[in-house]
Amino acid sequence: MEKQFNVLIVGAGNIGAFFDRPSSQNILTHAHAFSKMEGFNLLGFVDVSKEKGMKASKLWGVKYFSSIEEAFNKDKIDVVSVCVPDEYHYSVLKKLSNFPLKLVFAEKPLAKNVKEAEEIIKTYKDKNIKCLINYSRRFVPEFEILKDKVASGEYGKFICGSGYYGKGTLHNGSHLIDFLRYTIGEINDFNSIDYNFDFYKDDPSVSAILHFKNGGNFVMQNVPCDNYTIFEFELLFQNKRIRIIDSGFKIEEYDVIDSKTFNGYKNLSKEKEYKTELNMAMLNAVKNIYNNLVYNENLKCTLEDGYKAMKVCEGLKAGIKHE
Ligand SMILES: NC(=O)c1ccc[n+]([C@@H]2O[C@H](COP(=O)([O-])OP(=O)(O)OC[C@H]3O[C@@H](n4cnc5c(N)ncnc54)[C@H](O)[C@@H]3O)[C@@H](O)[C@H]2O)c1
Repeated sequence: MEKQFNVLIVGAGNIGAFFDRPSSQNILTHAHAFSKMEGFNLLGFVDVSKEKGMKASKLWGVKYFSSIEEAFNKDKIDVVSVCVPDEYHYSVLKKLSNFPLKLVFAEKPLAKNVKEAEEIIKTYKDKNIKCLINYSRRFVPEFEILKDKVASGEYGKFICGSGYYGKGTLHNGSHLIDFLRYTIGEINDFNSIDYNFDFYKDDPSVSAILHFKNGGNFVMQNVPCDNYTIFEFELLFQNKRIRIIDSGFKIEEYDVIDSKTFNGYKNLSKEKEYKTELNMAMLNAVKNIYNNLVYNENLKCTLEDGYKAMKVCEGLKAGIKHE
C-alpha cells in the first residue's frame, strides 16, 4: 500500500471492538477491519467508559484515549469510526467536524432524526469532510451483483416483495429500507399498518407497505425481537424470485419453470442457494475507504443514502396511530 492512514475508533462496544477478536475468521468489527487492512494504522479507542476503552485497547493492541480532544492532541488522525449508540451519533459526528480529518466511517443510522441529519450533512459539506455510512449489505459482492442484475433488466420487472425485521424502524428497519433503495430504487410513498415498541422507547418497529417510484411494492412486517431476531425478505420479479435469509448471510434464487403437476402452469423452483460475504462486509467497507482516499473511488453508502433511509423511517413513524 502506497499510503498509510491513522484511524481512531469512537465507541469501544460490540461493533467497534468486541463482536470478534484478532484471531477470528469473520471480520465483524471496525477494529478488526482496520487492523487487517494494509494502508491503515489503528491508533486506538475513545470511550466514555474507561473500563471498556481499556479492554478494547488491550484486545487490539492499541491506545486508549479518554476523549476525542485528547486523541487529536496526541496524534495525527485521518479516519474516525463512529461506533457509539444511535442517540450519540449526532453529537459525536458534530464534534468530529471541528478536527482536521479526512473521512468519517459512521455507524447507521446517520442520526436520530432528519433535522439532526440535515445539520450533519450541511456541516460535512461545508467543511469538506467525507463520510461513509455503514449499511453493511452495500459492501457485499453478491448484493452488488444482485443490484446490477436488477438494473440490467435480467430478472424482468420488479413485482413485489415482503420481509421481516424488528428492533426499531430506524435502528434496524433502516437496513431494510436502504437495501431496497439500493437494489430496487427510490421509495416514493408508504402506508404504515401497525407497530411494536420492541426495543427502543422512541423507535417503534413499524409494519408498512412501501411503494417504489418505478412500480411494485414491498410489505415490511415487524416481528417483536423478544421472541427472536429475524431479518429476512424476498423480492419477486417477472422471471426470478430472490430470498435473502439468515440476516443476508444466505441467498436463494428461484427460476420460473413449467409446472410438473398442472399442465400449462408456471411455478417457481429453487435452483440455487449460496452464502454471501456478509461476514467480510466490514473489511470491504474499509477497502472502499482506502480506495476513496487514494484513488477517489465513489463511497458506496453516502451521507445522502443515510439521510434518505432516515426520511422514509421518519415518515413511517409519523404514519402510525397511537392508541
Ligand atoms: N452496521 C451494522 O450492521 C451494525 C451492527 C451493530 C451495531 N451497529 C451500530 O453501531 C452502534 C453501536 O452499537 P453497539 O452494539 O456496538 O453498541 P455498544 O453499546 O456495544 O457500544 C457502544 C459504546 O459506545 C460508548 N459510548 C457511548 N457514548 C459515547 C460517547 N459519547 N463517546 C464515546 N463513547 C461512547 C459506550 O460506552 C459503549 O462502549 C449503534 O449505533 C448501532 O446501530 C451497526
